[in-house]
Amino acid sequence: MKTMDKGGETTHFGFRDVPVDDKQTLVNDVFHSVAKRYDLMNDLMSMGLHRVWKDVMIQALNPPRNDAPFALLDVAGGTGDISFRAAKASGYGFHATVCDINSGMLDVGRERAVAQHFEDRVDFIEGNAEALPFPDKSFDAYTIAFGIRNVPRIDRALAEAYRVLKPGGRFLCLEFSAVDVPGLDRIYDLFSFKLIPPMGKAVTGDAESYQYLVESIRKFPKPNAFSEMISDAGFSRVKHQSLSGGIVALHSGWRL
Ligand SMILES: C[S@@+](CC[C@H](N)C(=O)[O-])C[C@H]1O[C@@H](n2cnc3c(N)ncnc32)[C@H](O)[C@@H]1O
Repeated sequence: MKTMDKGGETTHFGFRDVPVDDKQTLVNDVFHSVAKRYDLMNDLMSMGLHRVWKDVMIQALNPPRNDAPFALLDVAGGTGDISFRAAKASGYGFHATVCDINSGMLDVGRERAVAQHFEDRVDFIEGNAEALPFPDKSFDAYTIAFGIRNVPRIDRALAEAYRVLKPGGRFLCLEFSAVDVPGLDRIYDLFSFKLIPPMGKAVTGDAESYQYLVESIRKFPKPNAFSEMISDAGFSRVKHQSLSGGIVALHSGWRL
């Protein structure tokens, strides 16, 4: 995924090759631009399906429903959706930390936490997935939903996930993937490239950010290749599950 040219290491920003050090700034511009309407756009673009995919992730997480302490780190957690869903499914020992690089997304998340009465159970911390501001072995589970493809150096983010998990801790990653149902792939491409950018323009005033979104999905590694990256980071029992004909995949692994 990362390549070297004469000017140094490059990576993808959508379909463009960019210096790896520039990608994060471009990604941050995208999410600053859409933060306030991010949740509405998720519902419109996925026709509500992102809720189903996130529920599948929470079922796999299976947080304790009793008072046993359970610390979740939700990286690239944005406006807090995964953490709120996990909190709803958990007992009193549950605590989530949403870590995201973008203050605009975190601000929306903090407002939602207050509105939904989660402020005691969910914290919001600004930080980079590639260099997490947490000690080694400090979380029972690590989730990242629709976040990892935005991170310039995925291998670093995976190494950091491994570092901050306690032995016995669970890694779960929900991400757009590759449609594997004949016929659906053409409809999905048409919907993605013809409808999503104009929809993004109508709702957020920003078509380019949603053009990046659909392009970045096409550039993300295929499920088997991504499983291999997770294994290379040290995780055991790595597997993946395809959802909605491959539109999304849920990858998981354990730090043993
Ligand atoms: C598509 S949103 C996903 C938000 C949330 N997880 C959800 O499922 O609704 C992607 C998030 O990744 C964050 N992000 C991008 N690069 C990051 C990085 N290097 N470290 C932490 N967060 C990052 C963005 O700021 C954005 O909030």
